Amino acid sequence: MCGIVGYLGEKEASSVLLEGLKRLEYRGYDSAGMAVLNGNGVAKAKCAGKIAALETVLLSQPIHGHTGIGHTRWATHGRPNDENAHPHSDCKNRFALVHNGIIENYLEIKEKLLKAGHHFRTETDTEIIPHLIEIYYNGNLEEALIRSLHEIRGSYAIAAIAEDEPQKIAAARMGSPLVIGIGKGEYFLASDIPAFLPFTRDALIVEDGEVIVLTPEGVKLLDSHQKKIERTSFRVLWDTAMAEKGGYKHFMLKEIHEQPDVISETLAGRLKPNGISLEIEIPKFERVFLTGAGTAYHAAMIGKYWFENLAKIPAEVELSSEFRYRNLHLSKKTLVVAVSQSGETADTLAAVREAKKQGASVLAVTNVMGSSISREAPSLYTRAGIEIGVAATKTYVSQLTLLFLLALKAGLEREALSSEEMKMFLKELYRLPELVSLTLKKESDVKHIAKLFASRKDFLYLGRHVYYPIALEGALKLKEISYIHAEGYAAGEMKHGPIALIDENVVAVALTLKSPVYEKTISNVEEVLARDASLILVAEETNKQVSKYTNHLFLIPETHWLLSPILAVLPLQLLAYLISDKKGCDVDQPRNLAKSVTVE
Ligand code: G6P
Repeated sequence: MCGIVGYLGEKEASSVLLEGLKRLEYRGYDSAGMAVLNGNGVAKAKCAGKIAALETVLLSQPIHGHTGIGHTRWATHGRPNDENAHPHSDCKNRFALVHNGIIENYLEIKEKLLKAGHHFRTETDTEIIPHLIEIYYNGNLEEALIRSLHEIRGSYAIAAIAEDEPQKIAAARMGSPLVIGIGKGEYFLASDIPAFLPFTRDALIVEDGEVIVLTPEGVKLLDSHQKKIERTSFRVLWDTAMAEKGGYKHFMLKEIHEQPDVISETLAGRLKPNGISLEIEIPKFERVFLTGAGTAYHAAMIGKYWFENLAKIPAEVELSSEFRYRNLHLSKKTLVVAVSQSGETADTLAAVREAKKQGASVLAVTNVMGSSISREAPSLYTRAGIEIGVAATKTYVSQLTLLFLLALKAGLEREALSSEEMKMFLKELYRLPELVSLTLKKESDVKHIAKLFASRKDFLYLGRHVYYPIALEGALKLKEISYIHAEGYAAGEMKHGPIALIDENVVAVALTLKSPVYEKTISNVEEVLARDASLILVAEETNKQVSKYTNHLFLIPETHWLLSPILAVLPLQLLAYLISDKKGCDVDQPRNLAKSVTVE
């Protein structure tokens, strides 16, 4: 996730762009840059680091002009350094372009461009676009942009400027957000409304497939065949704080609702007709060992079941805080997968170092390019964008999605799956963003149940097999943000202790999804009911039996049982959020917690 901005008017563009970028910093902040036109070509300023670093660069080397574009980066392709910071340009620096999204087919295009003699300066996927514009430019920027877009596949919000057209910005959108601000004789574009709220409250939403041209004459909206589209602007009534949260009350809720898009990003370019394609080569291994902390550990736990079931390979999981104190006897044939959203958790970093010392192959699954862990080990990125709420939600589902891909790929390489099974899993993965979106649409059902149980003091989350880590994660979410005592338990273990706690004061939340452990879990549900606990069940909407146990149901769409944990966790995230909000807790910054724990 990145943020883009654009300005055309009479003000000094660099200061308007800087202000906008500061308001988009929540979308990423590992590097930033801008380019302006001043009649003497394209003037650029960019650097690694936060917007404040760019501000310092601009103080010592100001750039002047009244038309410009800017970018704050959250690296996905190429490390966060000065060169990879946007804007990017063509061979002769006649164009500058900023981009939020991922170009899936950039490698093949880059190869063609290199053969044709184009000179590349960065490791980014974005840089191919200004080079394509360079080829197609014939005095009209939007025309060249449209022709370039016909060649690329992926998601984008793009803004471009051309030296020869100093009073024009051309922009386009496909799958990444883009809005236009309309002021008096001045125009803005941005990934999100807060970027231009200090200057105007009149906005226009750009839809997928549309191209926008800003000139002193106004805003022109075009479809991909350059046909004009009419759209009226609307007035933004949110205050700035609300606007940053996209109109949601808290970042956590916004992030929960971003999950369909996040999963699309995690999957982008990785699903192929006959399998899975990952950006890095995974060394051959005979055993896999997963590790992580907190929510990342819960993702690692499910990863273990996936490697066992999809790749038929021995798999183990350990908390990263325990990892280096064990005698693990790792070898070259062991793949250690370290899962960490931030890539900075001290214990997980120490586990990575220990695994390397023991000669194991190490792979990181992380959200942050350039993080400490990503510098220690080859990394696959979850591409969830920056997560502000301390309670991890969208980064968790993106970790799960990526671990599933990894296990599936291992299964394919070991011929542990039939081609029929492979096809079925690919089909389900393609549907996953939509299934997540359908699940989240049931928020009102969860709201009703959250209201009923918000004042209760004890929750017990139960699940078996792949749903056991989901039970742990559901309980963790609730305790983290609502300070209610909650335990996650392997449903089969309940009779070995926790059953002694159960009475009418306990709320049990059981994961009764159709799977090989369904009937056994239902038996545990009966045990809970016999002891008068209140009961909430998570089940498929096609399951007509569950309503005989309780009226408190979170119903989710059907998918393969190995994938359903990704859907099952969603109502549990919502339940924790809604209870926390109802109790008036500080949802986004719960007491005593930190987003990233860099001490052991
Ligand atoms: C902290 C956060 C958790 C997170 C854990 C691991 O405890 O509050 O949300 O799951 O650290 O963080 P990591 O960045 O390594 O995934």
